[in-house]
Amino acid sequence: MFKKSLILLSLVALVPVAAHAADIEKGKVAFGIRCASCHGPEGHGDGPVGKALPPGTVRNLSTGPFKYATDAAKTKELLQKGGAALGLNALMPAQPDASDQELDNMVAYVMSLRK
Ligand code: HEC
Repeated sequence: MFKKSLILLSLVALVPVAAHAADIEKGKVAFGIRCASCHGPEGHGDGPVGKALPPGTVRNLSTGPFKYATDAAKTKELLQKGGAALGLNALMPAQPDASDQELDNMVAYVMSLRK
């Protein structure tokens, strides 16, 4: 009985950590909905809106170069604040309705695209 409750207790303790681990697969799905129209499904800058803009406006997320979002923390900040707030193109939108978990998932996916 004591052993069982101990196991249960450690499981409960693990759940919050597991729940907030970034999920690249979920990030890819969210990216498809929120970002792919400009950046394309693989982040190559070739979404329908991206292609309609002057070449280079929406950059290739696999190769950069990156003006601000050089690491995961800064990429998350870009998604929280949007391009305009950080001196980037105002077409790059903030994601005010995304949860912290969703932001982390999308950042994980974006970072996985980098070569
Ligand atoms: C309406 C078009 C549009 C959408 C939608 C969009 N972006 Fe962008 N994004 C841009 C543009 C334009 C730039 C280039 C900004 C610049 O060079 O000033 C950019 C740049 C970036 C960069 C590079 C920034 C840097 O520091 O150089 C990242 C990373 C990025 N976007 C991620 C995302 C993610 C993740 C999403 C979805 C949550 C997203 N974008 C949605 C237009 C868009």
